Amino acid sequence: MTRLIFFLCLLATATQAQKLAITTPTCEYQHNPLGLDAPTPRFSWVLTTTRRNVLQTGYELVVSRDAGFRDVIWKTGRVKSDQSVLVSYRGPALTAGEKYHWRVRVWDNGGNASAWSTTQSFEMGLLQPGDWTAAWIEPDLPGDAVNKPAPMMRREFTLGKPVATARLYITAHGLYEAHINGQRVGDAYLTPGWTSYNKRLQYQVYDVTPLLKTGVNATGVLLGDGWYRGNLAWADTKNIYGSTLGLLYELRVTYTDGTRQVITSDKQWKSNTGPIVRAGIYYGEAYDARLEKTGWTQTGYTDAGWQGVKVAEGGKDNLVATCGPPVRKHETFRAQKILHTPKGETVVDFGQNLVGWITLKVSGKAGDRITIRHAEVLDREGNFYTDNLRAAQAEVVYTLKGGGQEVYEPRFSFFGFRYIKVEGYPGTLTTENISATALYSDMPSTGSFSTSHPLINQLQHNIRWGQNGNFVDVPTDCPQRDERLGWTGDAQVFARTAAFNRQVAGFFNKWMHDVAADQQADGRIPFVIPNVLGPNDAASTGWADVVTIIPWTMYQAYGDTTFLRQQYPSMKAWVDYMERNSQHDLWNTGFHFGDWLFYRPFDDNDGTSAVTDKYLIAQCFRANSVQLMINAATILGRQDDAQAYSSQLKKIKDAFLREYATPSGRLVSGTQTAYVLALQFDMLPENLRAQAADRLVANVRQYGNHLTTGFLGTPYLCHVLSQTGHTDVAYDLLLQETYPSWLYPVKMGATTIWERWDGQRPDGTFQTPGMNSFNHYAYGAIGDWMYRRITGIRNAAPGYKHITIAPEPGGNVQQAAAELVTPHGIVSSAWKKAGAAFTLDVTIPANTTAEVVLPGAAGKKVIETRTALEQTGFAQKTAGSDITVTLGSGTYHFQYE
Ligand code: BGC
Repeated sequence: MTRLIFFLCLLATATQAQKLAITTPTCEYQHNPLGLDAPTPRFSWVLTTTRRNVLQTGYELVVSRDAGFRDVIWKTGRVKSDQSVLVSYRGPALTAGEKYHWRVRVWDNGGNASAWSTTQSFEMGLLQPGDWTAAWIEPDLPGDAVNKPAPMMRREFTLGKPVATARLYITAHGLYEAHINGQRVGDAYLTPGWTSYNKRLQYQVYDVTPLLKTGVNATGVLLGDGWYRGNLAWADTKNIYGSTLGLLYELRVTYTDGTRQVITSDKQWKSNTGPIVRAGIYYGEAYDARLEKTGWTQTGYTDAGWQGVKVAEGGKDNLVATCGPPVRKHETFRAQKILHTPKGETVVDFGQNLVGWITLKVSGKAGDRITIRHAEVLDREGNFYTDNLRAAQAEVVYTLKGGGQEVYEPRFSFFGFRYIKVEGYPGTLTTENISATALYSDMPSTGSFSTSHPLINQLQHNIRWGQNGNFVDVPTDCPQRDERLGWTGDAQVFARTAAFNRQVAGFFNKWMHDVAADQQADGRIPFVIPNVLGPNDAASTGWADVVTIIPWTMYQAYGDTTFLRQQYPSMKAWVDYMERNSQHDLWNTGFHFGDWLFYRPFDDNDGTSAVTDKYLIAQCFRANSVQLMINAATILGRQDDAQAYSSQLKKIKDAFLREYATPSGRLVSGTQTAYVLALQFDMLPENLRAQAADRLVANVRQYGNHLTTGFLGTPYLCHVLSQTGHTDVAYDLLLQETYPSWLYPVKMGATTIWERWDGQRPDGTFQTPGMNSFNHYAYGAIGDWMYRRITGIRNAAPGYKHITIAPEPGGNVQQAAAELVTPHGIVSSAWKKAGAAFTLDVTIPANTTAEVVLPGAAGKKVIETRTALEQTGFAQKTAGSDITVTLGSGTYHFQYE
């Protein structure tokens, strides 16, 4: 009997799993978003079922004003379509501030219908400057200035009736932290985030319904200098966007009887300063708990001694909704060890180089002062090392108020650190008294990658942590020294890898808007975005090309043509700038960073430095940008542009050959980077490709299987080797453990990716402190090759509508597995070698198809689950030693020996 019940349960579960269902419905990449400003939001969903070969044949989508779908404003009816990603709303214009509900159901090629998805919602933001009723207000505090105490602003207000819903629309000049009735609003940090403020300032929307009550309420907002007026870049540059902090606050309340009330930033607010004595991105935070204003965000607080506020002119034309994920708290790290260094310092080790801040617990006397400094590494003697932070003080100074346990964490700064040095802690510091919290943009994790090789796994870990720490609202070069800027080159180099590890569509959508906003009138792209280095930047090859590379990368990863459409004018302006500044089709003028941080030994008497001609690099990147322009023009149906750029591209490639290659294909720079770029960007005619690849391989061998590439060559090095049939050489490079290599820092104990191949030398000494970050994601770009080649997961059509899984086992790696959450669902690939036996498990999501390459399977007896391959009916072809099968959705297990 129990066996029968068990069997029936099993059957029921299996039938359930076979059922066609809809999971993870999203709107503009988000779950139930608040504050959208896209006039025609896009809906996506994932089909799930365990049945094989499932394709969507139709969908029906409904949008309604109410959750019961009685007040429907748009319904598609049953649409014959296989589109399940980014389906655009096409109903009547949506109203600012209104909430809408939607659901979808689908049909598949097996004649099955899904149930309706669960009811989803989206809410529009304030769409025009005129939608706001609030005015900008500024604290009226004599002496208020950058690096001075952080202003606080408060007011009370009365809500006459029970509240049904309430939304807070808020932004600031500077950073803000809002409270209502003693509770923090939301769980986002470093808001409103960093954008090119003068042109684009994000506001956030919070559901604050639960924080309000009928009767008198209080609200308070803290402001910080942040990126707005704090120190940024070098030479004591500050007040970049303005010298006065300000607040724009609009609380929209709907009562249960349907009437509405709006509370705004206006003259009724008061201002003062409090415990934050100083806060700055590079500086850190100084907090004097004795100056706390207890209860200041609650009713009943007496603010008689507070100053008023000034209603300011601040415009609203630059206000934009928030389209990227907010910065939130993530992992918490316990203190692993408390060390006493040879110099006598008390140092806490958190075991991971992370970006965020510490939380401190302490008891002591009023006036006791604790100073905490942050560092990424210890020097070879084991002492605390901060020279590489340059002018960033990166400190926390906490002054106790006394009278019991105090808990503190900073809020208007962030730190890149693994270690902290603690001075002045009253009593004994234990690992229980201090922890570290990682903060980064809240991008869902989409990728996982692991192998049987522990050092590669650590490399993958380091790549992910490089991404976490440098995706704090803006893609930064590094998170710790007096820099932390949106360096364009670094971002384009890493974007492909980033899109494997996490969902980065919203993150890059936000930032690419700033790239376009800060583009110069003549088409040049500043070195850093938001541009805080001034208007006179040149436009460096490989950096400015961010403008074509990232939109294309995002289009590939997410199938989102909006990236191309939105950025098209910006891409075109850059490509046309290069054309105007080229002579005889050669882009060979101006300043370029070149193959930044390429291999360059100190005492280079016989010339082994891998210097690549900067203009050769420029010509290759120009060709790539023009190619991406052609691709974008073709996709957007701009045939004239596609044609014009195609003839331009031909001239660029001809000029490249004339200027930089001999007739036999030898390049003027005999470096890995030169051959890699020439091959990757298709600069050589077919008949010169094999010899170029041979020269590249010879070069790698000549350096004893070491790479010599810098920022621009590194991302493509292993790809080019694989594309030209040299995956074995790519593995030799990947598995190399001595400098320069990816695993050298891993062997040295790195927990993130380093800026330089030799940030710390084998003898424990450091590279020059002037530029030596231990958390710089650029070289982590190898991650893209690991996913695409080791486990072989590649998109064969944008958004993974069609997938290639072509694993390339090699080296001494015995097994590898990766999973990727694509817009269509989870793709996975896992292979294992055991003696002569080889197994490959793959998952292909519903509504997609795939080509799966079975490496070395030709001539072998291949079994899929329990069926011989010949009997499966899968379309298949053999090329060389591999068999390629064409598969529909489902999970498959192949084995052969
Ligand atoms: C940054 C880089 C950046 C470079 C420009 C450095 O200071 O940290 O990562 O791309 O300057 O070459």
